[in-house]
Amino acid sequence: MGEANLMRIRTAAIADRDTVLKWINNEVVWAVDSPDPYQTKSREEFGPSWREIVDMGSAWIMEVDDKPVGHLGWVPQRQAVGEFYIVIGEPDYWGMGYGRQAMEWMLSEAALRELKALYGRVLGHNIGALKFFTAMGFDQISKDRDFFERDGAMHDLHWIARKVDDHCQPISKWSDWPALTAAR
Ligand SMILES: CC(C)(COP(=O)(O)OP(=O)(O)OC[C@H]1O[C@@H](n2cnc3c(N)ncnc32)[C@H](O)[C@@H]1OP(=O)(O)O)[C@@H](O)C(=O)NCCC(=O)NCCS
Repeated sequence: MGEANLMRIRTAAIADRDTVLKWINNEVVWAVDSPDPYQTKSREEFGPSWREIVDMGSAWIMEVDDKPVGHLGWVPQRQAVGEFYIVIGEPDYWGMGYGRQAMEWMLSEAALRELKALYGRVLGHNIGALKFFTAMGFDQISKDRDFFERDGAMHDLHWIARKVDDHCQPISKWSDWPALTAAR
């Protein structure tokens, strides 16, 4: 692993659209992050959904040495739960500790905003990300079997979650869990 420089996290803006679109259209990123068949998105297609995300007020850009390298955030759901995403869009910056820094930051920001839990999806063949989320205290909560096709094989979609304010208790032991899944 290389030496990590200082990372800054700032609020995402409409002006970040093209940068985020570049990451979405990056085939290497797509291969680990999207269950859909690869197809480049246009600005026109992406613009309205990016605006919606920015307007929610829970989207951020990760910057290293003033260069945007990734984005993260959550889409608020019912019952103080957020469906999160975290994507370092520049593969050269994977495995350098930035994901951990950003996820820890997101958990404390979510706690400040009184979110109870974060949940998200991970592609079954993305072993690195599954290990990352385990290291970050997430539990697997369910699996959609054979959900997507990649390289001629079918793969599962994993759903993972963790409580925001409790680093110790696994979510599988959380009695409010049915309420959280109902939010999906
Ligand atoms: C998943 C992702 C956010 C992880 O961020 P990262 O900066 O690469 O991970 P970090 O270097 O902070 O690693 C933190 C921990 O996660 C684990 N980890 C991360 N990547 C791993 C890999 N490829 N294999 C095994 N473990 C891994 C390690 O245990 C590491 O622990 P350590 O801090 O004790 O070394 C980032 O790689 C990424 O955005 N990938 C592409 C998109 C994606 O997969 N997003 C998630 C799908 S929702």
